[in-house]
Amino acid sequence: MCGIIGYTGHRPAVPLVVEGLRRLEYRGYDSSGVCFAQNNELRVVRAEGKLRLLEDKLAVMEHSLATTAMGHTRWATHGAPTEDNAHPHRSSKGDLCLVHNGIIENYQECKSSLIAKGFRFSSETDTEVLVNCVADERAPGGSLLEAFARALRKAIGAYAVALISPEEPDTVYAARHSAPLLLGVGAGENFVASDIPAFLPYTRDVVFLKDGEIVRITPSSWEVFSLEDLRPIAKQPRRIEWDLQSAQKGGFRHFMLKEIYEQPRAVTDCAAGRVDAALLDARVPELDALPFPGRLRIVACGTSFHAGLWAMPLIESWAGIPTAVEIASEFRYRDPLLTPDELVLVISQSGETADTLAALRIARHKGCRVLGLCNALGSSIAREADVVIYTQAGPEISVASTKAMSSQMIVLLLMALHWGKAGGALPGETLRQAVTGISTLPSLLESALPGIQAEARTFAARYSSCDGMFFLGRGQCYPLALEGALKVKELSYIHAEGYAAGEMKHGPIALIEPAFPSFFLAPHDELFPKTKSNLEEVQARRGPVIALTNPPRPGMELRADDIWILPEAWGPLEAFLLLPALQLFSYEAATYLGKDVDQPRNLAKSVTVE
Ligand code: M6R
Repeated sequence: MCGIIGYTGHRPAVPLVVEGLRRLEYRGYDSSGVCFAQNNELRVVRAEGKLRLLEDKLAVMEHSLATTAMGHTRWATHGAPTEDNAHPHRSSKGDLCLVHNGIIENYQECKSSLIAKGFRFSSETDTEVLVNCVADERAPGGSLLEAFARALRKAIGAYAVALISPEEPDTVYAARHSAPLLLGVGAGENFVASDIPAFLPYTRDVVFLKDGEIVRITPSSWEVFSLEDLRPIAKQPRRIEWDLQSAQKGGFRHFMLKEIYEQPRAVTDCAAGRVDAALLDARVPELDALPFPGRLRIVACGTSFHAGLWAMPLIESWAGIPTAVEIASEFRYRDPLLTPDELVLVISQSGETADTLAALRIARHKGCRVLGLCNALGSSIAREADVVIYTQAGPEISVASTKAMSSQMIVLLLMALHWGKAGGALPGETLRQAVTGISTLPSLLESALPGIQAEARTFAARYSSCDGMFFLGRGQCYPLALEGALKVKELSYIHAEGYAAGEMKHGPIALIEPAFPSFFLAPHDELFPKTKSNLEEVQARRGPVIALTNPPRPGMELRADDIWILPEAWGPLEAFLLLPALQLFSYEAATYLGKDVDQPRNLAKSVTVE
């Protein structure tokens, strides 16, 4: 979703802000803009499309004296992605400028009352309404902080906002409610931004803001207040240990490819402190803070939902905990029945997904304990959950989620082991096999990835011209099939369906014909014979088949148009080889078709609107 950066300090602010926006590009956007203070005036420059077009406009402007600025990348919600709708927006009275991420739900009624008071509008956005509300709240000579707070108290919806006024040209105000915003504390300079990489070259000292907090930064000061009554709130900056390098491409052509190749590292980091290879033991210490759940409800969106779906049978069979998995955008609108002993597990890489956050709040409101599984440190979900488990996968920049999913799956598997031990349902042999397998998985994966990519490239060239394709699997391969199809759609814009292989005969098999390929996930597990039958049903209807399977062995033979051999791993760990194969296929298909891999059209990294 939209990206925000605000800066005030001693450096030329415009190039710094544009550079910050570049590091927020991964969030997805369709227009951008900056506002800078120079000679006690605010100048606003905006452009439709990519940042380069904004830079072209800035290149012919004088802004070298500006040391306060804010920038924005907009992902359109209200109104088309045009220059008029791009942020920053300026108030028609008082010359305030504001950038915003989120949605102001009551903007129409506010707009009508502002028009009646003589305010004028030049865009279709809710943001322009908000900046005019701030101007409206401001009494002549009155405090901008108070006016800003009053306007925000009236706003219904979600926002992260930053505001500049020509009267205080070295001050940036900002606030958040249900949308991400952080404060970066530097020496003689301060920052606000949607995410840490925006200011990471300048400071690693970060203040995590909560909903209902409002901040004021100048070059030499930063203050946080409660939005409710403007009482000062004491905060301590936290030092971020990861550096910019880990948020950059590191020699790879795309962030997505880098992040796929980071999966062995992600598995290692995720297992650190949780798996004891010497003692053949595993535990998730964070779970000690929760009672043993009577039932488990997993709620998530997109790829995180698929990770939950994959883990459900493990939790049921190893830990004996009845588990249901739901899409957050459905869960939140259906008054779900939750039992008091039910633990709600929300999974979110970003920790900011609006539907998942809403699901968390509903679960808490209904009196359930909530466990968060997040990657982003200090995110909204991480803060609002009763207990949070971090996946420790490092920053994921590409819109397509890759290493986040494998790290979620590792933690979920470890949780199943942990609860399995705690409840006494887990056979000791399963624990030993799992721990041994996890300990050797990073090296197995590391050595397999280049070969998997080479195969993926070949199949992408062979099948990317199709109009549609199936991804089919059973058991643990069913959620992976859903994920494979999601990735192909998201990245290459080819229509793809993920299906439970056994469901094909109930309708979808009608699509099968010679131009419609099916990727069968057919590892040598106990469901192999069943999957093989489904594969043959497709072949009987002259559908091309690509079988992702293991090295041949007697009794496990397959015939297919293309056989994609993957190394064999123990039981559920095979998923960690199938998953990168699917990720790499979608990656290669997207590059083959010339698509924007890291920022697919219409998508955003962190979906902070419902
Ligand atoms: O940050 P979250 O895990 O909550 O995000 C959920 C989905 O938006 C996300 O997984 C999305 O489906 C990815 N773009 C898929 O690659």
